[in-house]
Amino acid sequence: MVRGLSVMIVGNGAREDVISHAYRNSPQVERVIVTPGNDFLNWRKKNVIVDKRSSLKDPISILRIAEEYKPDLIDVAQDDALASGTVDLLQQNGFQVFGPTKLAARIESDKNWARQFMQRQEIPHPKFRYFDNEASAIEYVTRLYQENPGIFYIKAIGLCAGKGALKSTTLEQAIQNIRLMKTFPDRAGRRFLIEEGLVGEEFSYYAISDGLSYRIFKSAQDNKTVNNFDEGEQTGGMGAISPALITNPLKDEIEKQMISKVILGMASEGVPFTGILYLGGIVVNGKLMNIEYNARWGDPECQVVLPSLKTDYLDLIQACLEKRLNQVKISQDNKTRVCIVGASRGYPQDYSQARGKRIYGLEQAMQLEGINIFGAGIDIIDGKTYANGGRLFSVVAEGKDILEARQRAYSAIAYISIEGNNLHYRTDIGWRDVERILK
Ligand code: GLY
Repeated sequence: MVRGLSVMIVGNGAREDVISHAYRNSPQVERVIVTPGNDFLNWRKKNVIVDKRSSLKDPISILRIAEEYKPDLIDVAQDDALASGTVDLLQQNGFQVFGPTKLAARIESDKNWARQFMQRQEIPHPKFRYFDNEASAIEYVTRLYQENPGIFYIKAIGLCAGKGALKSTTLEQAIQNIRLMKTFPDRAGRRFLIEEGLVGEEFSYYAISDGLSYRIFKSAQDNKTVNNFDEGEQTGGMGAISPALITNPLKDEIEKQMISKVILGMASEGVPFTGILYLGGIVVNGKLMNIEYNARWGDPECQVVLPSLKTDYLDLIQACLEKRLNQVKISQDNKTRVCIVGASRGYPQDYSQARGKRIYGLEQAMQLEGINIFGAGIDIIDGKTYANGGRLFSVVAEGKDILEARQRAYSAIAYISIEGNNLHYRTDIGWRDVERILK
């Protein structure tokens, strides 16, 4: 076994905090560097360096950091960095890099390419149509509502931090959402899709792939809207559970229809996918449909899935890079995990009034049994924690089942507050499985 390795992680959220934990659990890893990171990532942790001098949309800035620290391995974990070709640039400069190339990451960063790929590979997906023109989209949607009113999604082609799919239940709303497409940053909605809306129960699955073979982790389910009862605006995710019981009878079908077809399909099309494949799916009247694929771990789903891994994460990543994943088994515990995301009041809209406010109680919550806290938008000044972002931290609890894990998670978050009553979190994370169990 090699020891004394250094790993650099590219990203800045609670997901990267979890990934950092996973690498540090390996006896082979001596040092972790996270860029651009956040203050929480190396707070009271040995051998973690946070270097904020990079920008996730600027691969050259990431290369500069890599050249300085010369890590043995770089894990590009964040979507903007993947979409902007960071993996390709680092590889061209001689680094060992885990993550999909820019072309492979199109499965997330170009929703039109992804849907066409699904069509070619016969992966079940909703009906969709591509637009780069507002007037023709409005004409199309008007016709749709005349013929068959229902739910439609207007979906930006580019990356929008999980907020790019706008639900429409009326023609007026659909037109308004089409007009909103041009307001997304970085012209992410200049091109967009109009998709039929699916009604059912969503889930997600994660697979690691070396481009030829793959291994599957436990399932998860996130709660995406900002408020309880799945109401309010879409966010990056307000909480998650793993496993998600809805997937139990469907696991083989999910693997066959929605994971295997991607890995084999991308390899056969000459764009092998090496990295973490995120499947966002939905069960509609017992049938599987795809919502989306992403080219990385979900956030907050990573917080509930990756800690279950008992296999050395570094070994797994190295097996991928050496194209011998088919020789490796992965082992996971059988606990249930619940994650509650603590956000600034006002998120995902204007949360400026929370910026710079003290966050109290994180340390007390971290002491509790079965609890881990992973940090995102947190500044640390003189050992004190302050809000600096929309999603601030993830409280993750483990238990023998969802009832125990959920009870622990809510007991822990009860210790935490933000000066001026500025903490927002959902109080119903995992409600579907709680109902399922109690029924
Ligand atoms: N939680 C959704 C995502 O990571 O895209």
